[in-house]
Amino acid sequence: MRGPGSRKGRSAAEDVGLPEDPLALIDFTRLPRHVAVIMDGNGRWASARHLPRIAGHRAGIAAVREVVEGAARLGIEVLTLYAFSRENWSRPAPEVNALMRLLRDYLDAELSTLLERNIRFRGIGRLEELPPPVRTALADAEQRTAANTGMLFLIALSYSGRAELADAARALAEEARAGRLDPATIDETVLAARLHTADAPDPDLLIRSSGELRLSNFLLWQLAYSEIWVTPVLWPDFRRRHLHEAVVDFQRRERRFGGVTSSAARPRAIHGRVHP
Ligand code: FPP
Repeated sequence: MRGPGSRKGRSAAEDVGLPEDPLALIDFTRLPRHVAVIMDGNGRWASARHLPRIAGHRAGIAAVREVVEGAARLGIEVLTLYAFSRENWSRPAPEVNALMRLLRDYLDAELSTLLERNIRFRGIGRLEELPPPVRTALADAEQRTAANTGMLFLIALSYSGRAELADAARALAEEARAGRLDPATIDETVLAARLHTADAPDPDLLIRSSGELRLSNFLLWQLAYSEIWVTPVLWPDFRRRHLHEAVVDFQRRERRFGGVTSSAARPRAIHGRVHP
């Protein structure tokens, strides 16, 4: 099914002169190392069908599977999906409970696939705020995939970019108070090492579904130089070909990291932080 943003029966890819699935156009020597995704539009997908919002979240699982599998097949190093923000706790309790249930069901159903595909899984965010059964399922999936060497798959849960930065600031202050850290040595590298994504490169590409042009408090520090790709396709309709479309578009961009370089080559370091 085509996303509601497509015009006159043509997909977004065809509108910009791409084949229906532009996989063949991807240059595998210049893949984004880290792709981050804001999965949006589940509610609108459901209300367009006169269904409860949770039906949209349930339908969104198929898109999650497609993107995880698609990214792993492409050879993406890190995939981060924004599944539940701290702000989402303010949603009606039945919707929050259903989302928590879906997460557990997803992990139950997909763990064997993650293992088969050599994918390493981890939750990021204020995980201590999640219900104990979800925390247990996350810890189990993390532990069972810990030795995998393929794609790192991060799910952001009870996540807030501002809270993550506040937590990092608190951790630095506590280390300084305990005498383990000289405040004069705090720079971008030292702070980034206290973020949930300390072991991952910053996202090269941010994908957002459903057409909104917002960061929604997602990876505020890490997205500083990411290329942003927004599609009108609602998340439950998002498929592997949309991921391919985003990668092709990413490879057509000129990344300058604030400098004037005209090629895909990146400066070695920005304010002391190495961008490999
Ligand atoms: C935003 O759509 C989506 C969410 C808040 C939840 C995303 C969750 C899933 C896709 C399913 C569970 C995920 C995993 C990883 C198993 P929205 O409800 O804000 O949509 P709207 O903007 O149209 O109302």
